[in-house]
Amino acid sequence: MAPALNHSSYDLVIQQLIPGYASLARLAVALLAASPLASATGSAVLVAGCGTGAELLEARSQRPDWQLTAIDPAAEMLTVARQRLAQSELDGSPAAAEAIHIHWQPSTVEELDAQAVFDGALSVLVLQSLADDGAKLAFLSALARSLRPGGQLVLVDLMRSERSPLQAQVEQAWLGFQRASGLTAATEDLDALSQGLHPIGLARLTALVNAAGFCDPALVFKALDVEGFLLQRRA
Ligand SMILES: C[S@@+](CC[C@H](N)C(=O)[O-])C[C@H]1O[C@@H](n2cnc3c(N)ncnc32)[C@H](O)[C@@H]1O
Repeated sequence: MAPALNHSSYDLVIQQLIPGYASLARLAVALLAASPLASATGSAVLVAGCGTGAELLEARSQRPDWQLTAIDPAAEMLTVARQRLAQSELDGSPAAAEAIHIHWQPSTVEELDAQAVFDGALSVLVLQSLADDGAKLAFLSALARSLRPGGQLVLVDLMRSERSPLQAQVEQAWLGFQRASGLTAATEDLDALSQGLHPIGLARLTALVNAAGFCDPALVFKALDVEGFLLQRRA
């Protein structure tokens, strides 16, 4: 992971970098909770690239009945997530704590057991860091494989805008957002971070998700270039 986003500074810096970050996990969980399969009580839900646990905390709050699998190859991020979830259990009621069943897996989604089957999945700000050299397709294919037919993935990612006369203004606005949010990371850290990002446009995303086994992506929200999609695994 790029220097500006190490696990100790992650929760502060990500909010200063990503417009609407505070709402992403809440929206993603609410969208999946309304999906045909994951709306059922006790659904199995995969949080792919859980990082420091934002989606897990939100899932715990909105759907304590979900059987959660949290997966991330970065051991330090997973440790922070486990600590945050443990703390939230201490702060909550014993009944709520008992209702939480999280399976923690320190690996990539691509390494998931072929037998793993989920009713729904969340992937927030993960695909953007994978190169479009087969890595994005491998990640999306693994997610499609792990879902029941008709299961949905909520995918939130930084997208590359299709060419627009407003693009320069949007980029300026993003910098303005970061400054106004108090981002103090050194320029070289931010440069390193942006070099680790591989955003793609909607046409490329559609081709990749179709090849992976999903129907066309449905755009459900957008804040500057951060977009949220619902993807349904083909039946
Ligand atoms: C920018 S963080 C996002 C974390 C969290 N979803 C959030 O919104 O705060 C991206 C996370 O994806 C993880 N990641 C990267 N490649 C992955 C893969 N192939 N499978 C699962 N997780 C991955 C990274 O380790 C990192 O913790």
